[in-house]
Amino acid sequence: MKKAVYPGSFDPVTYGHLDVIRRSAALVDELIVGVLQNNHKNPLFSLEERVKILLEVTKDMNNVRIESFTGLSIDFARKCEAQFLVRGLRAITDFDYELQMAQTNRIMAREIDTIFLTTSLEYAYLSSSTVKEVAFYGGDISQFVPPSVAEAISRKIMAVQEANRVTCKSN
Ligand code: PNS
Repeated sequence: MKKAVYPGSFDPVTYGHLDVIRRSAALVDELIVGVLQNNHKNPLFSLEERVKILLEVTKDMNNVRIESFTGLSIDFARKCEAQFLVRGLRAITDFDYELQMAQTNRIMAREIDTIFLTTSLEYAYLSSSTVKEVAFYGGDISQFVPPSVAEAISRKIMAVQEANRVTCKSN
């Protein structure tokens, strides 16, 4: 059985990620999307929220499983008995970081290959960070993320703004 793990932060998932998920799922029997609990980053969405959002937007994809993980991607891939890691390449700017990560992973886990999918051209500019920035400044993100994700982002931003307002008031 061919299995691949697509690891990432997915804070939150965008149409670019979904494009990679759909296309890589077509190459294997099972695709496991691994949502990283990354203690070095300060995500907008909690791990549970990121997983929940992904479950919703991938519910029509029969061979896609959503899991969270901590630690190294290769250890997670081994636990899942996956032979491949999947990563998307948007532009040349991704290449250096991705190559370094893939080479390091290959040295640590000879049995696991990284498969790179070039992101479809219409999503080559897209990142979770830009989507969050556009949303924070009140821009329209409907072209970048599915409706349920856009709703989750606007609810989260309202909650963050409300929390900031309360903190400012009490200072
Ligand atoms: O979506 P992202 O934030 O670009 O994903 C980066 C991710 C999760 C793939 C990468 O940070 C990762 O694999 N982290 C887990 C720790 C690890 O395995 N590092 C690679 C060793 S070089």
